[in-house]
Amino acid sequence: LSKADSQLVAMHEFAAEMYHHILLNTEEGQAALDYLENRGFTRELIEKYRIGWSLPEWNYMATALQRKGYSEAELVESGLAIEREQGNGFFDRFRGRIMYPIMNESGKTIAFSGRILENTKQEAKYMNSPESPIFQKSQVLYNVHQARNTIRKNRKIILFEGFMDVIAASKAGVENALATMGTSLTSQHIRAMKRFAQEVVVCFDGDDAGWEAAKKAAIALNEENFKVEVAVLPGKMDPDDFVRENGGEAFREQIIGKPHAFIAFAMMHARRHKNFQYENDLLQYIQEVLQLLAGRSSPIERDLYIKQLSKETGLSEEAILQQYRKLENKSIERSRPQHPAEEAPSARPPKR
Ligand code: UTP
Ligand code: MN
Ligand code: MN
Ligand code: MN
Ligand code: MN
Repeated sequence: LSKADSQLVAMHEFAAEMYHHILLNTEEGQAALDYLENRGFTRELIEKYRIGWSLPEWNYMATALQRKGYSEAELVESGLAIEREQGNGFFDRFRGRIMYPIMNESGKTIAFSGRILENTKQEAKYMNSPESPIFQKSQVLYNVHQARNTIRKNRKIILFEGFMDVIAASKAGVENALATMGTSLTSQHIRAMKRFAQEVVVCFDGDDAGWEAAKKAAIALNEENFKVEVAVLPGKMDPDDFVRENGGEAFREQIIGKPHAFIAFAMMHARRHKNFQYENDLLQYIQEVLQLLAGRSSPIERDLYIKQLSKETGLSEEAILQQYRKLENKSIERSRPQHPAEEAPSARPPKR
């Protein structure tokens, strides 16, 4: 870290301690503490994830940081304070929110996500720190510093959609958990994950947005040669809802312990909102699944899923296989280099 960067980290560490202190030890933090207890947060979890509360005042944190000697420029660069439009003074970015520190791989705070207490339509539920020299959303994964050892031991990452789900998983005894910070999974996230394991269980929310995001994440991970499985929540629940409703043991055994293979999940995804009484739906389903198989599958997987397709649709394996071969030929053509001449043979070392 450069000197400027470690100053920014120090500011975030200071803020994290202060938010945490306010939550746990002050009258002003009591409502937030009650909210967290209602959501099933134990003291231990609040400590482990260093959760805090930002006061609703306009510039409590900005003033505290200035008193510590940080400059106005540093305040703004950290994202903790925002310059007033008129140019006289600052106000706190986070006011009246439950504060979740986002920590880097050494466990130092580099950003925050702040949640409002009551869901309203007017305000976004979570407010996140802006990008800064120490915080790039497209790279940061929540919980790496606490999960890394368990991930290496289990050789497996459990990837969640929200950091709340990571915390719920921890309550359920699932410690190899990571989450992105409200962005979709990027190639940088995937590269970071590769350093820890080759296997991922994607466990996103059960609503439509979660299913779509899970499919995208699973495809991206599969393309980067992870062994991918997908754990599915019943109804529109998210992992945190499930743990609160059914307990940690049910979560470990019924959800995390029974993930679907990547292709099986993709088939479930393709079946969603389709009615096989309609032949359009049926044909589209078959096409989607075959496309997936033509992209990347072993002969055994192909055989398995073509049999399953045949059972589900009542069409013969023979016909499905013929359709598959057409797609496979197309996908082979597509993967040929577009301009073979550009791969100049003279550039290669002579064959011996
Ligand atoms: P969810 O809406 O699923 O949040 O968003 P959640 O984890 O279930 O939160 P609770 O249970 O309502 O408190 C998943 C993730 O999307 C990002 C956050 O990173 C969140 O963890 N998100 C969501 C935002 O950044 N801003 C939002 O307003 C909402
Ligand atoms: Mn503490
Ligand atoms: Mn969600
Ligand atoms: Mn959720
Ligand atoms: Mn939730």
